[in-house]
Amino acid sequence: MRITIFGTGYVGLVAGTCLADLGNDVTCVDIDNQKIQKLKKGSVPLFEPGLPELLTRNVREQRLFFTTDAVSALLEAEVIFIAVGTPSAEDGSVDLQYVDAVAETIGKHLSHYAVIANKSTVPVGTADRVTEIIKRHQKNKVSFSVVSNPEFLREGSAVQDFLHPDRVIVGTSDEKAKSIMEQLYKGITRPTQPLIFTDVKSAEVIKYAGNAMLATRISFMNEFARFCEKVGADIKAVAKGIGLDQRIGPRFLQAGLGYGGSCFPKDIKGILHQGKTEGSPFRILEAVDKVNQEQRIFVCEKLKKQIPHLSGKTIALWGIAFKPKTDDIREAPSLDIIRFLLKEQAQVRVFDPEAMLATKALFPSLHYAQTPYEALEGADALIIITEWNTFRELDKEKMKSLMKQPFILDARNIYEPEEIRKSGFIYVSIGRP
Ligand SMILES: NC(=O)c1ccc[n+]([C@@H]2O[C@H](COP(=O)([O-])OP(=O)(O)OC[C@H]3O[C@@H](n4cnc5c(N)ncnc54)[C@H](O)[C@@H]3O)[C@@H](O)[C@H]2O)c1
Repeated sequence: MRITIFGTGYVGLVAGTCLADLGNDVTCVDIDNQKIQKLKKGSVPLFEPGLPELLTRNVREQRLFFTTDAVSALLEAEVIFIAVGTPSAEDGSVDLQYVDAVAETIGKHLSHYAVIANKSTVPVGTADRVTEIIKRHQKNKVSFSVVSNPEFLREGSAVQDFLHPDRVIVGTSDEKAKSIMEQLYKGITRPTQPLIFTDVKSAEVIKYAGNAMLATRISFMNEFARFCEKVGADIKAVAKGIGLDQRIGPRFLQAGLGYGGSCFPKDIKGILHQGKTEGSPFRILEAVDKVNQEQRIFVCEKLKKQIPHLSGKTIALWGIAFKPKTDDIREAPSLDIIRFLLKEQAQVRVFDPEAMLATKALFPSLHYAQTPYEALEGADALIIITEWNTFRELDKEKMKSLMKQPFILDARNIYEPEEIRKSGFIYVSIGRP
């Protein structure tokens, strides 16, 4: 099939590359010329495991193209994906300016029937809004169908997630669009990873409800972690104990520093805002968001308890990315921790395997270490922010010898308290005695 994708970010680029790998002709459009020039040369502008190999192969075999020219990209497209950013506006609502701009471009230049599939995470009702914008700008009065096709991939395993999804959701009531989307996803769907059709609005709600449920589990466990500390229980034992209950399951039960990233925080804010405007407020999600914000403060307070006067002290941070296996620092909890440390006039030394370049642009004055060990030189404390695997098995004796004070604040609970204390560290973690 001939596919055009607007937006070459984490979603658009992965979707485009994977769909090309299934044998489709895919053109990816972006307004960021620098990004497109890089991509044309086969260089991937973001870190996503497995993506560079797949992209290079499909560019070489001439199934995957990149352009800033939206008009030519629309010429023969059978399916047009909208995968542009939908950031939070000041008031927490979803800023739809990029989606609107794509809809306008499609309206102005579409000259044949096509399915327009919205992959961006958008408020309920956006498919209708896109339809209206396209119609308003149409010069050629061709028919088209806007469907909702929310994306569930996770950064860090995006290629695998796109090619092997738990399910694919398509919201449409148009039979022609249905059969085109069925054809499009033929190479991906299986009995165990089905394509599910719903009405458009339910598909839009599914995306928010999914992220809201996952965020709720995280805040739920973080609140229980605080309780465990008060009563002397261990949140890891609690997570294991409840996770084995098949009605609950083990995933998304890790207490820590709370959620971040480009999705959960903005999607929770987005659905909270729409709930309010629709007169159906989400009380539980209000608490989820609040607990998540508090969790960052909770970790800072733990540090202050050990080092009351941070001014002039050296604090090492391991991990900046909002989670392992990505270079994405959007809404990462680390950013709040860094801001707190700078406000307290601490010296900050950081190491992250992938996210240092993006962080340098925000905080040029930090010390950016080449290795996890270098970050520890002269440190009064180490805070583990992101649970990259590299941090799990490092040489504890070497770590201790580099630090001024062997204090670890493990905000992701990656070490075993007894073991690490036996190695001579003062160790504080989340929700464990
Ligand atoms: N990142 C994720 O893990 C993830 C997962 C599921 C869903 N989503 C949703 O998918 C959407 C995209 O997320 P992302 O992380 O890929 O965003 P991103 O910020 O990484 O990429 C968005 C891209 O769209 C481009 N763009 C903006 N306006 C454009 C236009 N008019 N024409 C063409 N390109 C344009 C930008 O230049 C940018 O390259 C968001 O709605 C997000 O909530 C993201």
